[in-house]
Amino acid sequence: MERSLVLVKPDGVQRGLVGEVISRLERRGLRLVGAKFLQVSQTLAEEHYAEHKGKPFYDGLISYITSSPVMAMAWEGPNAVAAIRQTMGATRPTEAAPGSLRHDFGLEVGRNLTHASDQPETGQREVGLWFQPEELVSWERAVDKWVFEN
Ligand code: RTP
Ligand code: MG
Repeated sequence: MERSLVLVKPDGVQRGLVGEVISRLERRGLRLVGAKFLQVSQTLAEEHYAEHKGKPFYDGLISYITSSPVMAMAWEGPNAVAAIRQTMGATRPTEAAPGSLRHDFGLEVGRNLTHASDQPETGQREVGLWFQPEELVSWERAVDKWVFEN
């Protein structure tokens, strides 16, 4: 089953939007497999954002993600990565589709509320970076057969 890391970033946590993010993903039909609330270390932030090292916004991004606690979650489902990125909306809130989280709650790219994995392989890698295997729960919901075709 395809998996994605989802972070409610410090601005989302400070603004009381953890429940809103969870609620939208649950409503979409995705299945939660792991969750933890944590203060992100410098090391984890640098590892998570390694692909952006050297970019003009990198330093600001590292201080943003380490500025206050985040809610880290692993979600799964068919096409989980594409579905979750659609629910989050485009990186820049002013380009995010109406109805998406970043459209509905955001204004600036540096305060865009959430992170979601950008490819299925990234999802596997990022879930592995943020969670130990024993922190992930494989489970079935009674409703799965009405949400997942196979
Ligand atoms: P994310 O990784 O957070 O889900 O967002 P994304 O794939 O849509 O965006 P990505 O290109 O991976 O960028 C990661 C985060 O860096 C910040 N950013 N700032 N100032 C800028 O031009 C800029 N570009 C990106 C955003 O917080 C973005 O989510
Ligand atoms: Mg990204």
